[in-house]
Amino acid sequence: MTPDEARARDAADPLRGYRDAFHLPEGVIYLDGNSLGPLPRSTPAALSDIAERQWGERLIRSWNEGWIEAPRRVGGKIAKLIGAAEDEVIVADSTSVNLFKLLVAALRHAAPRTTILSETGNFPTDLHIAEGAAGCVPGARLNAVPRAALSDALDETTAIVMLTHTHYKTSECFDMSAWSAKAQQAGALMLWDLSHSVGAIPIDLNAAGADLAIGCGYKFLNGGPGAPAFLFVSRRLQDQLASPLSGWMGHAAPFGFADAYAPAPGMTRWLAGTPPMLGLAALEAGLDIWEDVDQQQVATKSAALFDEMAEIGASLGLECVSPADPARRGSHISFRHPEAYALCQALIARGVIGDFRDPDILRFGLTPLYLGFEDVVRAGEILGDILATDAHRDPAFQQRNAVT
Ligand SMILES: Cc1ncc(COP(=O)(O)O)c(C=O)c1O
Repeated sequence: MTPDEARARDAADPLRGYRDAFHLPEGVIYLDGNSLGPLPRSTPAALSDIAERQWGERLIRSWNEGWIEAPRRVGGKIAKLIGAAEDEVIVADSTSVNLFKLLVAALRHAAPRTTILSETGNFPTDLHIAEGAAGCVPGARLNAVPRAALSDALDETTAIVMLTHTHYKTSECFDMSAWSAKAQQAGALMLWDLSHSVGAIPIDLNAAGADLAIGCGYKFLNGGPGAPAFLFVSRRLQDQLASPLSGWMGHAAPFGFADAYAPAPGMTRWLAGTPPMLGLAALEAGLDIWEDVDQQQVATKSAALFDEMAEIGASLGLECVSPADPARRGSHISFRHPEAYALCQALIARGVIGDFRDPDILRFGLTPLYLGFEDVVRAGEILGDILATDAHRDPAFQQRNAVT
């Protein structure tokens, strides 16, 4: 695609208007919105309102003026993006903590089954948390096997199958319906990590028959660094699972101040402590952009941006490790290259921000709400120039940062 063709494509893009909803710094092509979404233009005002008016002026009265229900209200907004009912999603804690709560609850529920089944190479926190959760339930263990061995590993000991829907490195997706059915036919619960899927590709948890899910607020949902995360529990399981972090905000009557714990009905039981209102306000501002976004248009544009980037990569001789079939991938594209780290640093120095995943993956987030074809074509030109001139071989680009 030539730059002129890319501009014409952008001009005809039905999602083009959403670009203005984000602050995109001058001189930057941001291909990392799958890691930290950019700042919505509405967020500073939302943060200033919660700080100066709601906190500053209204003080503690704000708990009765919209704060206490915020985890459910904001959860309801996420529900619409993932094919869940409003009362099946709540916002709380971090993705890691939500995963811990659901895994321990599911292990206890599924006894005498003892195994969490997952894949090797899953996002590290998922495996680390699964190990920790298994350590909290007598006899439980994590069985992580390569993707191709998952079906054979599913057996009568499997309590829960824990999979990340879109793989953080390769972008490859599991078939959510097929795997949910397979887990349930084997008598296990199915838990999905939606961190790289929500806001990237259409998801329908209930149509897929999923049991449990978790996901991040700071990637495609643009909730800001460390935004609170969400969790989903299917209505049919809500009364049967209880959070191991039995804090007072998940109590049936927190202001009854009873000594004994009694879980709240519905999703409220998954709260532990006081909701982080500043973070929730930023997340809600990010989510409000999504209110009337057509998810099908997002998927169509994601596929087109991917195809363009894949073509550029192929013309530069890069090995694409993401699936060619749009139905089998999320909204990022990854290339394998022995000098991926240095290439990533050289790109950042030229204003193209993607990221590197150890040991050799160069990853580009293709976020349809604010990226255009011109961005992708221009990023490709810069990447081509770096490769042609060996600019990435500069020693300055070899030095590892703490966060890559
Ligand atoms: C699949 C997946 N799960 C979880 C996380 C992060 O969890 P947390 O927000 O608790 O750090 C990430 C972060 O990139 C992720 O890619």
